[in-house]
Amino acid sequence: MVTGGTDSGRGQWSSKMGFILAAAGSAIGLGNIWRFPYVTGQNGGAAFLVLYLACVAVLGVPVMIAELTIGRFSRRNPVGAFKMIRPGSPWKLIGYAGVATGICILSYYSVLAGYTTGYIVKTLIGNTTAYEAFTSNVWIVLPLFLVFIVFTVLVVQGGIKNGIERWAKILMPILLLLLVALIIRSVTLEGAGRGLSFYLKPDFSKVTGKTILAALGQAFFSLSLGMGAMLTYGSYLAKKDNIVTSGLYVAFFDTLIAVMAGLLIFPALFAMGMQPDQGTGLVFKVLPMIFASIPGGHLIGAAFFLLLSIAALTSTISLLEVATAYMVDEKHWLRKRAVWVMALICFALGLPSILSQGIVPWLEKLPLVGMSFLGLMDYIFGNVMLAIGALMISIFFGWLWKVKNAAAELREGCPGFGRIAPVLDIMLKFVCPALILVVLVFLFIDVA
Ligand code: PFF
Repeated sequence: MVTGGTDSGRGQWSSKMGFILAAAGSAIGLGNIWRFPYVTGQNGGAAFLVLYLACVAVLGVPVMIAELTIGRFSRRNPVGAFKMIRPGSPWKLIGYAGVATGICILSYYSVLAGYTTGYIVKTLIGNTTAYEAFTSNVWIVLPLFLVFIVFTVLVVQGGIKNGIERWAKILMPILLLLLVALIIRSVTLEGAGRGLSFYLKPDFSKVTGKTILAALGQAFFSLSLGMGAMLTYGSYLAKKDNIVTSGLYVAFFDTLIAVMAGLLIFPALFAMGMQPDQGTGLVFKVLPMIFASIPGGHLIGAAFFLLLSIAALTSTISLLEVATAYMVDEKHWLRKRAVWVMALICFALGLPSILSQGIVPWLEKLPLVGMSFLGLMDYIFGNVMLAIGALMISIFFGWLWKVKNAAAELREGCPGFGRIAPVLDIMLKFVCPALILVVLVFLFIDVA
């Protein structure tokens, strides 16, 4: 019988609310506000929205509960957690894969986050440089990338209560308020109605296998699942807190922000007579044009990119925290040293991504794969590795650790857990592994 880890010397969230805000901060990011609208736009609008919501509920919530439980039970980073529950087994490899995935996602995510920060000023001063010209100016994008990483480091260095939680408490409510204000502006634009019906009136005749894959991938990325970020955040959760309701709140807030981002973007997009399937550049290319053409657009636009930067920061914090927790717990490094060394690796790894956006031609279209280095990183780490991680976590939880053994941990803070245990059991044993496996098989068929 494995007993849980101890709290000695580890930070902890000061309250359940602090945890929910920090974990929602991790989940809510460029994935919701930049990735979700463009993927929705490419996949037919409302029907994709319905599928995405189904994936969050069926797949996201059980895996979220599994990660939080493994984390709180072990009080460890992803590597330490699997080592503790299954000592001497290869399951710790999931943890190592998670740490590596976190650093790799952080490397290109910070590039995009840097663009976002740059767009605050660009929009505010009314600079009309095209997206491609902006991303290919190394003297602008490199410092922005660097500044964003340093910002992330400074927050993570502060630790649990003073760093991550304090910032999340301030940043998350600001984000929500800004979003509400911008939506009101967007839906009152003339011609916004067509955007609303594109986004909210499903046409299932357009659904294909690819749409389902996109919805599944988006659900993992958006909920920060599959690489141990939620596991790590769960390890700082107090025993008295309810894992099930906390997980549900996080999934709810994350999904709410994504749905709201759609409400912001599609009405404005259609009001401008533009196409929804613009691809990855959607937010950066289209929105500035929209903002420039409405009264007060500079301010609205700057506020939007500020919102996006805030959302990105609370996500990069969690990406860096996974590797930091690993170095602090397993290698006994000082937090400060761990944070700076990890950030340096991430900076070096991010360089090819930044150069692949119009600076070094062969990185822009890699031989054999035909996509940019940044696109490849997102595909491998933001998609495939998260799906593999989530698959492994559900198999580990459902078949090896088993819901009945985890029940004691889940009951702490959630006395009524017994009633939902059979549902969680079925989800993690059968539904999640089967669905994720189908997704992965399709991903590989697609590549081959
Ligand atoms: N969930 C974040 C977003 O939607 O932007 C991205 C992310 C953060 C993915 C942390 C994975 C992760 F572990």
